[in-house]
Amino acid sequence: MPLLDLGQRQLGFTSISVMNEVAKLLEMPPMRVYEVATFYTMYNRDPVGRFHLQACTTTPCQLGGCGSDKIMAAIEDHLGIHPGQTTEDRMFTFSEVECLGACVNAPMVQINDDYYEDLTPESMVTLLKALQASAHATGAAGGTAGLGGESETGMGQRTGEGRGQHGNSGEVEDQAARGYVGKGVKLLSPGPMSGRRTCEPLAGLTSLKEEPWGNEKLRTDGAL
Ligand code: FES
Repeated sequence: MPLLDLGQRQLGFTSISVMNEVAKLLEMPPMRVYEVATFYTMYNRDPVGRFHLQACTTTPCQLGGCGSDKIMAAIEDHLGIHPGQTTEDRMFTFSEVECLGACVNAPMVQINDDYYEDLTPESMVTLLKALQASAHATGAAGGTAGLGGESETGMGQRTGEGRGQHGNSGEVEDQAARGYVGKGVKLLSPGPMSGRRTCEPLAGLTSLKEEPWGNEKLRTDGAL
């Protein structure tokens, strides 16, 4: 599976040639590789656009926050494409997927390798506009996700360490908006769009606010 992923990143999609090469490398019948590659949705059997939007519509994302139906509609309205389609400029491919494991931050969308969570229709459109503006500002053409698109457009940089630092690319992180500013374009950082850190409670801590119960004798010098 990692070899298939590498092949997909090199070519842009999981072609028959990629699968046959993996089978050759692993000295196994090609059919064994086809079985895996055609089962998992992360292997794209067709080329995708520079930004591959994968919107989760499994139950927690349907019920969480504003619900994934509204996120799907926001993408469709803004880009004019439906799940399974790619924009004419080959900038965006839109896919509907099952649970991506970020249910607590529902609804969410994966864009290339990054998760954008706690989405609303407004933040979804803001995100799409930022991606369009970044592609325009950098002159990035439509193409295949993973083939240079991320570095050209500044996608893929995460918040966390280095907040507020100047990166190697000369971009400056805008802490207030949890994003990066480069070439006059503000890109939102991956993660929750609600402002919370990772999956902490939205309304503050409700548990584990103090030392938990214990029955052992503690040292009196405070060292432990
Ligand atoms: S249901 Fe959407 S991430 Fe799990």
